[in-house]
Amino acid sequence: MVSYKEIQASNALINDATAPRVAVFVGGTSGIGKFTISALVATGASTRIYLVGRRSSEERMRAFIQELHAINPKAEVIWTEGEIALLAETRRVCEIIKSKESRLDLLFLSAGYAPFDGRNETTEGIEITQSLEYYSRMLFILQLLPILSKAEAPRVVSVLGGGLERETSINLDDLDLKKPGNFSGVNAQVQYVAMNTVTLDKLASDNPEVTFCHTWPGWVSTGNVRRGVVANSIWGWFVRLLLDPIISLVAFRDEESGQRHLFQSTSAAFGGRGVPWQGKPGQNSLEQQANGLFLVNYKCDCTPNAKVLPLLREKALKKVWDHTNEVLGPYL
Ligand SMILES: NC(=O)c1ccc[n+]([C@@H]2O[C@H](COP(=O)([O-])OP(=O)(O)OC[C@H]3O[C@@H](n4cnc5c(N)ncnc54)[C@H](OP(=O)(O)O)[C@@H]3O)[C@@H](O)[C@H]2O)c1
Repeated sequence: MVSYKEIQASNALINDATAPRVAVFVGGTSGIGKFTISALVATGASTRIYLVGRRSSEERMRAFIQELHAINPKAEVIWTEGEIALLAETRRVCEIIKSKESRLDLLFLSAGYAPFDGRNETTEGIEITQSLEYYSRMLFILQLLPILSKAEAPRVVSVLGGGLERETSINLDDLDLKKPGNFSGVNAQVQYVAMNTVTLDKLASDNPEVTFCHTWPGWVSTGNVRRGVVANSIWGWFVRLLLDPIISLVAFRDEESGQRHLFQSTSAAFGGRGVPWQGKPGQNSLEQQANGLFLVNYKCDCTPNAKVLPLLREKALKKVWDHTNEVLGPYL
């Protein structure tokens, strides 16, 4: 485990030279993304953050941005409105960012929730949380890779369940879980976690100039479990009366979660580039110093998941990659 003291010491080294000069946060309108933005801005470093979110959160975010500006006037936070569950909107947002920036240092992806309220699709026909947690995230990466690769130490962080993937996690005959009986809140989360890992692992090996992390945040009391349940259902009551209070008891404090994710977004512990790190280097999915995906858990420890990943590469990668390209093709 990387201790909280070590995390704080590393983040204290973030300054104008080491902070991500340009960062994009998708999912930063609440929870872990928002805590990470607060931690980054609180370093006092000069940084420009594109905070991407849906219109319904804009008013709330305008107040948040004002607070951030008071804390650190050198941090510029740019509200960028977009319905990011939609791939056409994701592409539009990426085009805006690419028209303004020639380089991108950090892409932080944390939108999503577990869909215990059943299968609900976007107007583009994709299950909403699969879009938020997988397709839209991959589209952001593919669209922004050209400017990511122009930065000195570019990094992509996808917050979901890195390290939790298993050999049997992915239903290869039904990647979008559309067939009757295949969809449930649990199946969906398991499938989207593993699809994240399989695709990020390929992107990491194809783009060695970019550091990729798939992180599992542990419990953080953000209200995330309440998002995917119908309020007056049995699940809704179970979550509200039992699960949510238990999570609040065992969860990381908001600030620590933000600091830990800032560490994962900036430290050279992951791949050797970034804020200098004297501790044990994180091991990636190719078990090398660089050029592989970092599966990082809530303790900021890495696992190469060495028994599972080679099997996923052999059995799942081609199907997942081909299907992902089919879905994303019209938006690339
Ligand atoms: N918190 C945990 O304990 C935990 C544990 C394991 C994994 N995770 C996963 O880690 C990720 C981040 O978790 P978190 O706790 O930070 O989540 P969170 O606080 O619930 O934030 C989720 C983000 O997703 C956005 N979002 C939700 N539904 C949307 C929709 N239909 N269209 C567009 N945006 C939407 C939210 O936007 P608005 O602000 O506009 O609503 C928000 O920015 C999630 O995928 C979560 O499932 C969380």
